[in-house]
Amino acid sequence: MKVAVVGTGYVGLVTGLVLADLGNEVTCVDKDTKKVESIRAGIAPIFEPGIEEMLKRTLKNGNFNITDSIADAVKKSEIVFIAVGTPPATDGTPDLTAVRAVAKDIGKAIDKPTIVINKSTVPVGSGDMVEQIIKDQGVASDLFDVVSNPEFLREGSAISDTLNPDRIVIGTRRPEAAEKLKELYAPLQSEFIVTDLNSAELIKYGGNSFLALKISFINAMSRVCELCNANIGDVARGIGADQRIGPQFLYAGLGWGGSCFPKDVQGMVATAQGLDYDFGLLKEVIKINEDQTNHFLDRIEHRIGGFEGKTVGLLGLAFKPNTDDIRDAKALVIIDRILKAGGRVQAYDPVASHLVEDHFPAAIYVNSAYDVSKGADVVILVTEWNEFRQIDLARLAGTAKEAILFDGRRVYAPEKARAAGWEYHTIGIAS
Ligand code: UDX
Repeated sequence: MKVAVVGTGYVGLVTGLVLADLGNEVTCVDKDTKKVESIRAGIAPIFEPGIEEMLKRTLKNGNFNITDSIADAVKKSEIVFIAVGTPPATDGTPDLTAVRAVAKDIGKAIDKPTIVINKSTVPVGSGDMVEQIIKDQGVASDLFDVVSNPEFLREGSAISDTLNPDRIVIGTRRPEAAEKLKELYAPLQSEFIVTDLNSAELIKYGGNSFLALKISFINAMSRVCELCNANIGDVARGIGADQRIGPQFLYAGLGWGGSCFPKDVQGMVATAQGLDYDFGLLKEVIKINEDQTNHFLDRIEHRIGGFEGKTVGLLGLAFKPNTDDIRDAKALVIIDRILKAGGRVQAYDPVASHLVEDHFPAAIYVNSAYDVSKGADVVILVTEWNEFRQIDLARLAGTAKEAILFDGRRVYAPEKARAAGWEYHTIGIAS
């Protein structure tokens, strides 16, 4: 099929590439001409396993094209995805400026039957909004359909998630539009959930809010464990073994960050608020998440007698492993607090250091994990990159001023860390 994808962020670019790799003729669109040139030259703007190979392959076989013109892409496509960003505005509601602008340009270009698919994460009612904007450009309502088809990919495994979805949600008014999308996605052999537009939009917000709730729940449990000498790892394993609950997203740590959970949980709260429902449960989920990092930092400060004049080594900066994304990364909160308290930060991340440096030029960014502990008063593991799981803990301890390790992701076995010379502290186990 002939497909256009507007927006080349994580969702847009990965969707476009996967559809091209499945044999469709895909044209991606981005208004950033530098990005367009670089993608056209085979350079992916994001760090994501497998993406460069897929880009080079589909550019070479001609299935993937990129342009800065929405009109050109829409005119040669039967299906048009909207996959532009919806960052949170100051009041927590998603900013739909980009979605509106793109819908307008799509409306101006439609000259034959077209299915417009919203893949951006948007509040309930956005499908209706997109439809109205397109109609306002003079497009007859029987010439186009608007479909909500939310994306569930995770950063770091975006391509394999897109190729192996748990389900494909299609929200539409017309069964014919759903049939067309089923045809497009048929090679993925996934379950289809066909519903109305509003329900599809809520599935995305609801799903991410529930996952964030699961993490905040286990993080709240970790606080109880610390207070009663229990072990959160065992507690989570025991709870998660109940098939009705499941073991996933019950991993206690510094809390959730990234480009989706913070935005979508806030978006769910704001959506409910707009409908006159106070979603207090989710407000607490957000609060627990913020408290989790601050409580860990309180424990560290208490142990080392405050950050002032101390050197703090940080292992990892990205919001999670296998990505260079630092949006709402816990590292930002941690560095901010240490620097404001008069401490020194020396940090290492395999890919994200340069991005954090833009925010915090005063911190020192070292070139290897082993340099993090040199002369440090305390080391904090912030992001659980595999590189840190396999690190020589004794070598790391050897150069520290004080071999005190606070493991924010529960990566190391306490006895191994202690045998390697560390005074070891972690989440969900009393110090
Ligand atoms: C998430 C959703 O999983 C995905 O379906 C959606 O499309 C976008 O948002 P992503 O943000 O890429 O994906 O990362 P994910 O792997 O879900 O992790 C989110 C955050 O939760 C990370 O900060 C991670 O460290 C944290 N997390 C995850 C935990 O603290 N514990 C867990 O058990 C799982």
